Amino acid sequence: MKKNKLIIRTKSKSYPIYFGNNLLKNVDKLIKNDLPEVKKICIISDKKLPKKLLAQLMKPLKKYELKLYKLSANEKNKNIYVVNKIIKNLLKMNFNRSDCVISFGGGIIGDLSAFIANLTKRGMRYVNIPTTLLSQVDASIGGKTGINTPHGKNLIGTYYQPDFVLSDIAVLKSLPQREIVSGYGEILKHSLILDKKFFFWLFKNGKKIIIQKDNKLLVKAIFKSCKIKSFIVSKDEKEKNLRMILNFGHTFAHGFEGAKKFSKKLNHGEAVLLGMIVASELSYRKKLLSMRELLLVKKHYHNLNLLVNIKKIFKKKEINKIIYFMKKDKKNFSEKINLILLKKIGKTTKPKEIFLKDVEIKKFLKSYYF
Ligand SMILES: NC(=O)c1ccc[n+]([C@@H]2O[C@H](COP(=O)([O-])OP(=O)(O)OC[C@H]3O[C@@H](n4cnc5c(N)ncnc54)[C@H](O)[C@@H]3O)[C@@H](O)[C@H]2O)c1
Repeated sequence: MKKNKLIIRTKSKSYPIYFGNNLLKNVDKLIKNDLPEVKKICIISDKKLPKKLLAQLMKPLKKYELKLYKLSANEKNKNIYVVNKIIKNLLKMNFNRSDCVISFGGGIIGDLSAFIANLTKRGMRYVNIPTTLLSQVDASIGGKTGINTPHGKNLIGTYYQPDFVLSDIAVLKSLPQREIVSGYGEILKHSLILDKKFFFWLFKNGKKIIIQKDNKLLVKAIFKSCKIKSFIVSKDEKEKNLRMILNFGHTFAHGFEGAKKFSKKLNHGEAVLLGMIVASELSYRKKLLSMRELLLVKKHYHNLNLLVNIKKIFKKKEINKIIYFMKKDKKNFSEKINLILLKKIGKTTKPKEIFLKDVEIKKFLKSYYF
């Protein structure tokens, strides 16, 4: 891979993402070089990762004092009780600020670990090693940390940038196809909100990426996607304005995930894919997006056999639940629901431009899908 480093520049911190194949064996060198004061390392790992991968990570780190947590990566575990337990143990074991938390998992483990690293002693060293496609192209960039509450997803959280991210394509080998598709959703989102040329490239190569798993194309898609997200977060780290465009499809997605009780019936990436196609349809109905471009997006979904109809997942009576969770979204300012819609492929509405009443969204969902 030629482009093996990308610097993310935010107001609070600049840090590198290291890209490559089989990078785990170099993690000690990177820590020694970038974080020379680290003595103790707490690895928070996804329980489901192949044993071989965890061993590959731990072997070069043997010279450090290590504490390992293996957690089940489900939305229910992304909670304050797990955070409390781990922080208490870190304090008991005298972990210092100069010591390090490593997240070894997808977005769930990453959001939780970053939150723990941020809160412990007002900020420990933090390294993110994303193991899902979604976390490599999205969740590991930009410093959002978060945990869930019964009131909704990610309603407690902070911004905390890592010291570096290690994006190793080799760890994706064991990833189930469902998770590859989920990650592709965020790649597609980046193209839809900001880069029409990238959308057409995905339109042409999407099948080769997610079905034939062409490594070269996948690497290119990951890198391009990271560049788009990094551009956005460097302009607006704390989501005051521009960063809100990343929420395209996400307000619906949060509604969908909440209505399914954040269960595996619909994972985050799938909810985002569904949220984006629903938001595109709504963009057309609001006369923002042309029929031609809506059809292009739909054709891409169709070509890749992606989920397009919420009726396949939800019953009509669940619409109220969807709306309930959409209203809980933290991007809302009033009783109305704040949405990012599409004006064109590659261009969204402005942040804080579209606010819709819940009854309007309910009517749209009912009339179009049921
Ligand atoms: N912080 C952010 O900016 C941000 C952005 C997007 C999403 N998120 C959050 O990320 C979470 C979703 O992340 P995700 O999609 O990465 O999901 P995840 O962490 O739930 O992982 C998905 C599944 O893949 C498994 N898995 C992970 N890596 C694997 C591997 N290499 N091999 C085999 N199985 C593996 C996990 O056990 C899990 O079952 C959500 O909680 C979402 O809110 C955060």
